[in-house]
Amino acid sequence: MWTVRDTMGAMPWLILAMSRLASADCECGYSVNKTSDADHLLFYDLQENDFLHTNGDNVTEYGWRPQEYNQTKEQTLAPYGKTNEVANVEFNPLKDAQSWSGDSEKGGDAGLKLWVRGDHSDGYVPGAELASVRKDMLYGSFRAGMKTGSGGTCGAWYWFLKNSVEIDMELLTKDFNNSQGAINLVLQSPQSAADRTAEGTNTLHVQHLDFRPDQSFHEYRYDWMPGSVTFYIDGQAVYTTTDNVPEDGGYMFMNHWSTGNPKWSAGPPSSDTAMTVSYAKAYFNSSDTARSDAYKKRCPTFDPAKVCQIPDQTKAPNGADAKTYFISQDGAGKTPDQQTYKLTSGASNLFATSSTIYMSIFVAFFSWALL
Ligand SMILES: *[C@@H]1O[C@H](CO)[C@@H](O)[C@H](O)[C@H]1NC(C)=O
Ligand SMILES: *[C@@H]1O[C@H](CO)[C@@H](O)[C@H](O)[C@H]1NC(C)=O
Ligand SMILES: *[C@@H]1O[C@H](CO)[C@@H](O)[C@H](O)[C@H]1NC(C)=O
Ligand SMILES: *[C@@H]1O[C@H](CO)[C@@H](O)[C@H](O)[C@H]1NC(C)=O
Ligand SMILES: *[C@@H]1O[C@H](CO)[C@@H](O)[C@H](O)[C@H]1NC(C)=O
Repeated sequence: MWTVRDTMGAMPWLILAMSRLASADCECGYSVNKTSDADHLLFYDLQENDFLHTNGDNVTEYGWRPQEYNQTKEQTLAPYGKTNEVANVEFNPLKDAQSWSGDSEKGGDAGLKLWVRGDHSDGYVPGAELASVRKDMLYGSFRAGMKTGSGGTCGAWYWFLKNSVEIDMELLTKDFNNSQGAINLVLQSPQSAADRTAEGTNTLHVQHLDFRPDQSFHEYRYDWMPGSVTFYIDGQAVYTTTDNVPEDGGYMFMNHWSTGNPKWSAGPPSSDTAMTVSYAKAYFNSSDTARSDAYKKRCPTFDPAKVCQIPDQTKAPNGADAKTYFISQDGAGKTPDQQTYKLTSGASNLFATSSTIYMSIFVAFFSWALL
């Protein structure tokens, strides 16, 4: 990684910085539960997004690619077609980068906004969809803090390879009443792909929620392992299935859309409505041999002491609980050899000493030295 050895002798502080990096943590991966527990899952790659503190105009720099495609109503089999547009993806960080709640830059809930627009006069409902840049996610624990829109939309947090190979958590606003909600949990099958609806799928599970998903943030999570998938709401396991479990690498996704289909999204909404994502955290293995080889290299002999445990988020991430833990914000040493996209330092360690700052000095120095 660092190839400028010649200058090292002159700068002993760099060696200090190097040794700090070398003494990094988590070389042997990230685990759900302690590695000493009978049941635990181990993963070697991560991608974390702290959208409460992420600004900018290009979400791809943060590991997500906005999807741009249109479907006619003949394709959606619904009253409306849909258009997915980059313009419907919007960053809206907190005004105060030091805090985890409070006013946002653009008003309303802070986080990444996925807008469904109220104007569908041309027969298309504009919405938003994002796919991970990485397409090699094979097994993992995928978590998002989200609050969905209203007025007839589908808001989803999912993993996708193709229409018949998909792990879905879908919030349909039509399923909510005054005080409670529901979420559709499904592993799509070739049958549901052919029918364009999850209704015919034997793994469709409608989970009752004792809250309104459009009124506060909650953590939606699925842990996908060989042979089974378990879905979680605010850290509580609610449903496990062993049918149609994918076995290939693919993408994680999020979207917010409507086609006016009375049996699914309902709507469309008559005014603009956003699904807001406060964070996305993914811990996963890879179908890319370069990534598994990199893991073998940094963890040649498995050592549980070099595994970092991923804490469960058991509280709905609102207000005082909106401050959640990010491995990537807990000192630079905890993401050895990770393909991290542009990172946002969380409010908790904007002024972190240690490796974070060493790292910046390091990078700044070499960029300058190489000119
Ligand atoms: C973590 O531990 C709990 C409690 O023992 C268990 O129910 C759960 O299945 C474990 N999770 C994983 C992913 O192993
Ligand atoms: C992820 O890969 C590591 C290293 O090969 C392996 O030990 C672990 O069991 C894998 N995790 C899952 C859930 O398959
Ligand atoms: C957004 O960022 C990606 C990744 O850095 C880059 O490839 C792309 O050109 C950028 N797009 C725009 C519109 O700047
Ligand atoms: C989708 O349709 C809209 C009009 O509704 C058009 O402006 C846009 O260019 C189309 N996008 C694609 C990718 O075809
Ligand atoms: C909302 O729906 C749940 C079942 O999903 C039901 O138990 C509850 O009574 C309903 N509440 C209201 C206010 O309609």
